[in-house]
Amino acid sequence: MSEILKHVKEAEEKGVAVGHFNISNIEMMWGIFNVARKYEVPVVIGVSEGERDFIGVEQCVALIRSLREKYDYPVFLNADHTYSFERVKEVIDAGFDSAIIDGAQLSFEENVEVTRKCVEYAREAGGHTVIEAEIGYIGKSSQLFDELPEGAAVTEEMITTPEEARKFVEETGVDMLAPAVGTVHGMMRKGFNPKLHIDAIRRIREAAGVPLVLHGGSGSSDGDVRDAVEAGIGMIHVSTEIRVAFRKAIEKAFEEDGEVVAPYKYMKGAVEEVGRVVEEKLKVFNNTL
Ligand code: G3H
Ligand code: ZN
Repeated sequence: MSEILKHVKEAEEKGVAVGHFNISNIEMMWGIFNVARKYEVPVVIGVSEGERDFIGVEQCVALIRSLREKYDYPVFLNADHTYSFERVKEVIDAGFDSAIIDGAQLSFEENVEVTRKCVEYAREAGGHTVIEAEIGYIGKSSQLFDELPEGAAVTEEMITTPEEARKFVEETGVDMLAPAVGTVHGMMRKGFNPKLHIDAIRRIREAAGVPLVLHGGSGSSDGDVRDAVEAGIGMIHVSTEIRVAFRKAIEKAFEEDGEVVAPYKYMKGAVEEVGRVVEEKLKVFNNTL
């Protein structure tokens, strides 16, 4: 079994969840990694198509591999939300630990077809890349908004059903599944995002038979997230809250010193603020910290 999957399954057994945090640059990577190390928990660094194009696909692999080797640490690299087989193939070939084929906006049959193709290629390539798939649309961008993304599956009637999850896993052989259970990508500018469907998570986990990943981790209440972990979520994605913390810290640095030009000076606070968000999340995901 791949290392990343092993850690997610171990987390499930302990009743905790592995944190997955997105980065756009090396500063965010350090903010996340420093805190994960402090608490000695495995961590996944995620890069969406846009994020990895910005950093460089092979450079992402080199960065995370160098952390893993230098610190002998369970830190993994995930190709977050990937919308085509070609781009999944690219990251498998580049040596990513996991990849998400996001067919949430396709029909169920089309989603099954592209996911199965990715799973087959990942296995043929040697199995070093775990494949996760998405069912149920929960919005697309990690940003702040005043209204929920149009068409997001957040109501009881719209969320993923256990039957869909079972059928999808059986037909694709996918390693991990991200169902729609009430979260959305991004977060409300004011107040919390909608409530999670905790019983549905329990039933979907049982029906799916593979670890469940909760996307859209920003903006949900800590209590809801704790209940979701207890109900069977093995990994949780957070991006928007980190982006907001990063940006605010840089704004603050410029307010404090309008003349500063050295990035390692004005980004120092941003690394710490990213770490602060990650620390809060890890405490919730691990319950015991
Ligand atoms: O894949 C990324 C996440 O699902 C992030 O969601 O921006 O709501 O934290 P978020
Ligand atoms: Zn996501």
